[in-house]
Amino acid sequence: MEPSIYEYPDIFRRVHMERPGEIPAEVQFIKEIWRRHRKAPVTRMLDIASGNSPHGQILARAGTTVVGIDRSSSMIAAGRRELENANLRFYRRNLINFSIPERPFDAAILMSETFPAIRSNEDLVAHLHSVGRALKRGAIYVIDVDRHDGITLVKRRRLWRSRRVRIGSLRVDVREFHRPIAWHDGMHSIYELECTIRFPGNPVRTRDLIPVRYTTPPTMDLLARASGRFTMLAAYADLSFDRPLDKCIGRWFAVLRRI
Ligand SMILES: C[S@@+](CC[C@H](N)C(=O)[O-])C[C@H]1O[C@@H](n2cnc3c(N)ncnc32)[C@H](O)[C@@H]1O
Repeated sequence: MEPSIYEYPDIFRRVHMERPGEIPAEVQFIKEIWRRHRKAPVTRMLDIASGNSPHGQILARAGTTVVGIDRSSSMIAAGRRELENANLRFYRRNLINFSIPERPFDAAILMSETFPAIRSNEDLVAHLHSVGRALKRGAIYVIDVDRHDGITLVKRRRLWRSRRVRIGSLRVDVREFHRPIAWHDGMHSIYELECTIRFPGNPVRTRDLIPVRYTTPPTMDLLARASGRFTMLAAYADLSFDRPLDKCIGRWFAVLRRI
């Protein structure tokens, strides 16, 4: 089986077209959400599907206790390597159903549009129950959700775009495909990411199949209610508190409160 791009944490960031300053801007936005929606200070945060926890690293340096959970040991190893700090620790867990030996948290985040990793209704509710168990009452759960309404549905696997990424002297050829999905599936479409990493003399090809859920604010509100653990407080467009949802460019942020 071909490996996943998540086995190569530094390359994955560049392939995902992360822009300089993006993560610090997101951390600022999350802190402002806490200020507006949580009365007590946030001193302990759970980073779900943390990867190497780029957001957590910034917060941990500033004194917040951050715990990351992720299923990829390579991503976790990268996080441990990048910041040795008593305020940051990791557990290898599946985000669907997990528990960790930690005191309850004031806040949780699920960033980088990873929400579609949860596929079935059963898993969605199990996920919200797991997060709910890990949080204090009144804690805030911020979920970063992609806008998916522009995605073309296809009958056959089709190349969407191809591009070349340079990381120093290393070249990565990226091809992205749309794949068909049954009309009755709970997900909306399937995105396939193929990366050929041109390591000198030893190219590696990675492949990830990423099902995409078209989640809108009313759907998230319904999920929160169905879980019995959360209520949805707000939906913010992009990184803005005053841009109307109608003008949302790329993604939106769901703000849930643990009840
Ligand atoms: C796009 S990365 C985001 C990493 C980090 N939160 C960030 O913002 O850079 C998605 C992460 O989700 C993790 N992931 C995907 N499905 C998962 C699952 N079922 N359980 C735990 N982690 C999962 C992957 O291993 C990967 O590290």
